[in-house]
Amino acid sequence: MKKRIAVLVSGGGTNLQALIDAEKEGMFGESRITLVIASKPGVYALERAKNADIPSAVLCKKDYADIAAYSRALTDTLKANSIDLVVLAGFLTIIDEQVYEAYPNAIINIHPALIPSFCGKGYYGLRVHEAALEKGVKVSGATVHFVTPECDAGPIILQKAVAVQQNDTPEALQERIMKEAEWKILPEAVKLFCEDRLTVKNNKVYIGE
Ligand code: GAR
Repeated sequence: MKKRIAVLVSGGGTNLQALIDAEKEGMFGESRITLVIASKPGVYALERAKNADIPSAVLCKKDYADIAAYSRALTDTLKANSIDLVVLAGFLTIIDEQVYEAYPNAIINIHPALIPSFCGKGYYGLRVHEAALEKGVKVSGATVHFVTPECDAGPIILQKAVAVQQNDTPEALQERIMKEAEWKILPEAVKLFCEDRLTVKNNKVYIGE
C-alpha cells in the first residue's frame, strides 16, 4: 500500500502543488512524493519541491545523445530511488518504451482536455485550449490516464468536464480547467493508485471498492 511517488515536471508545477497539498492533507495515506524530476533547470516546479522538502533532480534532454539515452537515464534514476508510481504533471519531454516497460500501468499523465478530443502529438499546454476554442466545443475538461507508448491513448482513469464560456481566451479556459478539474482529479487518481484500487483490463480502467 505504501508507495514512493515521483512527479515529473517541465513548468510552473501547479499540478505538483496540488499533489503536495493532497499528501499533506493525508489523502495518500502513508505514500509519499519522494522525488521530483524536472526536464529543465530553473522551472518554478523545482521551487515548489524545495519548499516542500522533496528531493529533486534535473534531467535535460540536450545532455543526452538521443531519446533512448535520455529514457535510460530517467529509468535508472526512478529505479535507483525505488519509485513505485510515476506522475507526469505537465512533463513535456518525449520518453520511450524503456520507461513504459519498466513501469507498466504505473505511469500516469494529466491531460488538459477530454481525451480522445484535443490530444496526441503536438497537443500540450495552451495549444490544447486554443484547439478547443477554435473548434467551438461547449465542454472541455481534463483526463488522467495511464501512459502507454501511444501518445495520450492509454487507459483512462478519471475525467472531469468543464463548461467553455463564450468569451473564453485560451488562458482563461486553461485556468478554469486547472482549478475545476486537473487539481482535483490528479490527486484523486494518485489516491486510487496508492490504495491499489486501479485495475486495467482490455485497455480500460476499473476502480475497485
Ligand atoms: C497542465 O495544464 C497539464 O495538464 C498540461 O500542462 C500543464 C502544466 O501545468 N499538460 C499537457 O498539456 C500534457 N499534454 P503545471 O506545470 O502548472 O502543472
